[in-house]
Amino acid sequence: MTDIRSLISQMTLAEKAALCTGATAWTTTPVERLGIPELLVSDGPHGLRRLEDLNALGAESLPATCFPTASCLASTWDPDLLRTMGNALAEEAIALNVGVILGPGVNMKRSPLGGRNFEYFSEDPYLAGEMATALIEGIQSKGVGTSLKHFAVNNQEFQRFSISAEVDERTLREIYLPAFETAVKRARPWTVMCSYNKINGTYGSENTYLLTDILKKEWGFEGFVVSDWGAVHDRVRSLAAGLDLEMPGPQDRRVAAVMTAVREGQLDEAVLDEAVRRILTVAFKAAQTPKGGTFDAAAHHALAHKVAGEGMVLLKNDGLLPLRDQQHIAVIGRAAAEAHFQGGGSSHINPTQVDVPFKELKARAPEVELTYAEGYPADDSFSQALIDQAVVLAQAADVTVLHIALPSYKESEGYDRKDLDLTAQQVALIQAVAEVQPKTVVVLNNGAPVAMSAWIDAVPAVLEAWMMGQAGASAIADVLFGKLNPSGKLAETYPLRLADTPAVGNWPGGAGAVRYGEGLYIGYRYYDLKDMPVLFPFGHGLSYTTFAYSNARVSATTFKDVDGVTVSVDVTNTGAVVGQEIVQVYVHDAVAGLDRPAKELKGFAKVALAPGETKTVSIALGFRAFAYYHPEHKQWITESGAFDLLIGASAADIRQTVSVTLESTLDLPCLLDTESTLREWMTDPRGQAVLGPLFAQIQSKTQALFGGGEQAAIGLDMMEMLGDMPVVSVLMFLARALDQHPEDIVAGMLAQVHGKA
Ligand code: BGC
Repeated sequence: MTDIRSLISQMTLAEKAALCTGATAWTTTPVERLGIPELLVSDGPHGLRRLEDLNALGAESLPATCFPTASCLASTWDPDLLRTMGNALAEEAIALNVGVILGPGVNMKRSPLGGRNFEYFSEDPYLAGEMATALIEGIQSKGVGTSLKHFAVNNQEFQRFSISAEVDERTLREIYLPAFETAVKRARPWTVMCSYNKINGTYGSENTYLLTDILKKEWGFEGFVVSDWGAVHDRVRSLAAGLDLEMPGPQDRRVAAVMTAVREGQLDEAVLDEAVRRILTVAFKAAQTPKGGTFDAAAHHALAHKVAGEGMVLLKNDGLLPLRDQQHIAVIGRAAAEAHFQGGGSSHINPTQVDVPFKELKARAPEVELTYAEGYPADDSFSQALIDQAVVLAQAADVTVLHIALPSYKESEGYDRKDLDLTAQQVALIQAVAEVQPKTVVVLNNGAPVAMSAWIDAVPAVLEAWMMGQAGASAIADVLFGKLNPSGKLAETYPLRLADTPAVGNWPGGAGAVRYGEGLYIGYRYYDLKDMPVLFPFGHGLSYTTFAYSNARVSATTFKDVDGVTVSVDVTNTGAVVGQEIVQVYVHDAVAGLDRPAKELKGFAKVALAPGETKTVSIALGFRAFAYYHPEHKQWITESGAFDLLIGASAADIRQTVSVTLESTLDLPCLLDTESTLREWMTDPRGQAVLGPLFAQIQSKTQALFGGGEQAAIGLDMMEMLGDMPVVSVLMFLARALDQHPEDIVAGMLAQVHGKA
C-alpha cells in the first residue's frame, strides 16, 4: 500500500498544483521522482473513445465495442446485464490502457428535447440510479474506474456551458440528485464529473454546496471530482469548492494561479493537499490493474447484441409481428443499409464491426425475397422520387419493414432538438407506404421520443430499436422474426406532442437562466398530475406473450419506516412463448404534509417465464421508498399513515394494489416559530398539545367576535377561515379578552414545544 500522506509531504507546491490539472487532454501529471503514475481517462459512457493522440480532443479513436446508448440500456431494466456490460467495458479499458472510463451519465431527462438524452437513462431518478449503480459496479469490479457525470442538473445543451439551472431544494433532492446519490453511496465511483452549467447561480465546477457539502460530506464520496472538459473558470475558486482535477490539460497559467494563491494565503494548502490525496488515491488504485493485452471483440460484439435485444421496446403490435411465412419483404429506409447505432459528440465510438440491418434480415430468411429502397435522403432535403420508389416496392411485397433513423442533424450532443418530429420526408414516407401496404412495421433508431400521431394509426407495428450499438441490427432481425421475444420497456414517457411535455414554458430558458418551474413533476409524475393522455407511458413495452398478475401481498400491513416492507406478486405467462416481464412497483402516499406526485417508482424486477409458468416476484421497499425531502427540516422524512403500493406493467397499467400503514420512527425537530399559523400549530402533535387547550378558548372568543348566531347561519368553519393566520395575529384580535399579551403567550408556547419551558 502506498503511503499517500507521506508522498504528499514530499511533493513540492509546484508538483501538487500540477497534479490537480491534466498533463494532456486525457492524462494526469506523473511525478517520476516519487513514483507517482499518470492516470489515463477516456470517454464513455457506452464504449471506449480512446484517442491515440492524448493531446487531441476529437480525432478518430481506437476501435472499441459500441454498446447501445443509455436510453436502450435503461429500457432493459436489467441491472445484472449492465453489470456484465460493465465487465466488458473494463476489459476494453484495460486493453486500451485506460484507468477511468468517463461515464455513466445519470442526468434526468427533464424534456425529451435534451440533446444528450440518448446518453442518459431515464426521466425517473430511481431507475437511473439502479442502472448506473450496476454499470459502475461492473466496470469497477475489474479494477477500472468510472466517472459519474454530469454533476449536476445538466439537462439541456442550450447554453450548456453557462446557463444557470434554477431549481428548488426539494426538486433538487428528489429528482435531480437521487440517481447520483444512489450510485455514489452504493457503487462508489472512483470519480465524479461536474457539470458545465451553473446551479442556482454557481457553476458546477465552483459549487461548494454540491461538490463538498452534499457529495463529499453528506454522501461520503471518497474519490476525486473532475471537471467536465473546459468547465473550470476560476481554478482557485474551484479547488476551494471541492473540484479536485481540472481537465483537459495542460493549463500552465492555472497551475501558477494555484501556487500563487497558496503562497499569498488565499488558498489553504490543506485544500490543495486534500485534492492531491484524492487524485493520488485513484491514480495508484488504477495503476494496480495491469494494463495492455487485447479484448475479445467477438464476445463483446455478442454481448452488445444481447444488450440491444433486451433493450428494444415493442411499442405497438396488432399481431403482425413476429414475421412468419412471408415470401417477399420490402425493406425500406436508409437506416436498413447503414445502421444508425450511436449518437454524435464525446460518446462517439469507432466500432470494431457494425451489423447491417438488411444483411441481418437476409441472413435469417435466406429463402425470402428481400428488396430494398432508400426511402429518404441523408440530409434534410425532400425527395418525392425516393418515396415513389419505396411505394412501388412496398406494394409488391407481402410486408414492409421501414427503418427510420432520426438523423444526427436532429439529435446530438451539443444542441437540443427543436421538436419531437421525424423529418418531413420520413413522415411522408411512412404515410405513403402504409397507405399501399397495410402490413408495415416501423423500426425506429433514435435516442429519445419522437411524435407519431401523424402515422401511428396507419401502421400495425412499431419497434423502438434506439441508438442500438454496433450489434443492434442483428437484434432487430431476431425480434422481427421472433427468434427473440422483446422484453424492453420504456424508461421515459412518449408524449403525444411537444406541447404536452413538462418543461414546456420553462425551456430552454434565456438571459442566463432556466427555471425548473415544473418542480418535481417531470416525466410520468407530470402526466399523472395533469391526468393527460400520452402516446406510450413510462414502463410500457409489449411482448409476444402475455402476463397475468395475481395474489399481491405484503410482508406486513403495518411496518416501521426503518424496517421497510416487502411486496410480492405472482406473475404468470399466459401466452404461448417464453417471455420476460418487467414488474414495476410504484408508491402512492395517501396523505402527505407537502404536495407529492401521485405515484413514484420505487422497485422493479425482470422475470423470465415459460408458457404457463408462474413465479413470485418480491420487491423490498425501504425507508426512502416512502420518504420525501422536507426543505424546512432539510432532510428526508417519513410521515406515519397510509400508502398504496401499486404493482404494474407500466405507469399506466397498474394490475394490483396493496394498502399498507407506515409508522414513522423519526423524531423531527419542531418547526413552529413566532410566525407559525393556527393550522401549523394544530397539525404538529407537540403544537396541538400546547395550543389545543387554548384553541377551544380562542374558538369561542373568535365566535363571540364574529357574532355567534350569524356565523352559525353561514356555517363558518373557524379552521378554514383562520387556519392560515399566524397564531399571534389571531390572538391580537382577542387581545382585550386575554390576560397576557399575545406575543408573550406565543413565546411561552414556543418555549414549551421546544422543550425550554
Ligand atoms: C462532455 C463529457 C465528456 C468530455 C470529454 C465533454 O464535452 O460533456 O461528457 O466526458 O467532454 O470528452
